[in-house]
Amino acid sequence: MNEAGKSTRPKPAHRLINSIRHGETIVNRIESLAALSDEPGKLTRLYLGPAHRLAAKQVEAWMHAAGMTVRLDSVGTVVGRYEGETPDLPTLLLGSHIDTIRNAGRFDGTLGVLTAIAVVEKLHSEGQRLPFAIEVVAFGDEEGVRYPGTLTGSRALAGRFDPKVLDEIDRDGISRREALMAFGCDVSQIAAEAREQDRILGYLEVHIEQGPVLENENLPIAVVTAISGATRGTVTVTGVGGHAGTVPMPLRRDALVAAAEMVLAVERTATNTSDLVATVGTFDIPDSAVNAVPGVAVFSFDVRSPSDATRKHALSMLQNEFEGIARRRCVELTIALSYDAPAAVCDTRLTAALSAAIARSGHQLRHLPSGAGHDAMAFKDKFPFAMLFVRCRGGISHDPAEFAALDDIDIAANVLADCIQRFDPTQSVD
Ligand code: HGY
Ligand code: MN
Ligand code: MN
Repeated sequence: MNEAGKSTRPKPAHRLINSIRHGETIVNRIESLAALSDEPGKLTRLYLGPAHRLAAKQVEAWMHAAGMTVRLDSVGTVVGRYEGETPDLPTLLLGSHIDTIRNAGRFDGTLGVLTAIAVVEKLHSEGQRLPFAIEVVAFGDEEGVRYPGTLTGSRALAGRFDPKVLDEIDRDGISRREALMAFGCDVSQIAAEAREQDRILGYLEVHIEQGPVLENENLPIAVVTAISGATRGTVTVTGVGGHAGTVPMPLRRDALVAAAEMVLAVERTATNTSDLVATVGTFDIPDSAVNAVPGVAVFSFDVRSPSDATRKHALSMLQNEFEGIARRRCVELTIALSYDAPAAVCDTRLTAALSAAIARSGHQLRHLPSGAGHDAMAFKDKFPFAMLFVRCRGGISHDPAEFAALDDIDIAANVLADCIQRFDPTQSVD
């Protein structure tokens, strides 16, 4: 860098990583990670569970082999660092998450981590150093399945970790704090994970689209414009349990039926609101029996929109509807929020750098919003971030049928490599 902070590095003419077949390496490693599950016969790798520990160890090994120094941070993120031309330069973050939902697909999250490692591995094998450091992050809690709170790893880096979540407990009554300590994490260090804004150049994530657009348009990749905002929570409906044979219908305060009416209200609200989706993913009747009127019903909701105003309006409409149904059916209503993340727009400079790399690759440039949430959301207004989507078959995700083709993965890896090698953090966005 000269005194004006301008990069003196010659613009890379075509000093690129040779176009490489990252695809095989990445796909083989995706299959290796897919075998690391907490449940037999399906892929379930929950935060801080046994499979997460094995996957973290495996990712550490691949990061070491790619020439990175590696550590496990205090919220379970595996962090691999590849120094730049000189030590301790500002850092470009790459990565994604290695936790999954229950009965998950193999590509969600792992694709971004393994693509990042493959790109660094190639830099390392060619002895290339850049005018910035690279850190590959393998976050462990993007899905938020084991505990209500989520984006734990990225929130810690952004200095947005809320210590209250340490007291959240999982289905077995194990607190997040206990699980972190058993994982070997020092929870007293979490606040220290926060990165200074001037030390982070940005965050780039490769991720499967998890939707059908790219396949529909026969495109392998797209650059993401923004990530939808999302609100999640649970609704507990408390009525009066009773004998299925003796309680007359007019006297019932049936929690399940009241909750079912609320679930239909969720679907109706989303159907009638453009650019909003809403999902009830879980519905539980504790201690249910075929011959008992349910006294309690608990269901989840997940409401998303690229527009925060639309999402918030829909949530207040739903609350009014739920309260009306509860009054009419004489049941109690409790709504508990577990997650609320505003829509996050991708950074102009990083998005332009990805777009230029796509153009150089010869592939059509397609911009696409993300209905799915990602770790990058935690960096909103903190670090610049951008995302590259990869086509996935049938748009299927969060399902064992999830699939991304090797050739598309290869294209994405080469676009990421090209983008990084030409990325000049001092360059203004033209
Ligand atoms: O739920 C989501 O959008 C993300 O896959 N965790
Ligand atoms: Mn994901
Ligand atoms: Mn996911």
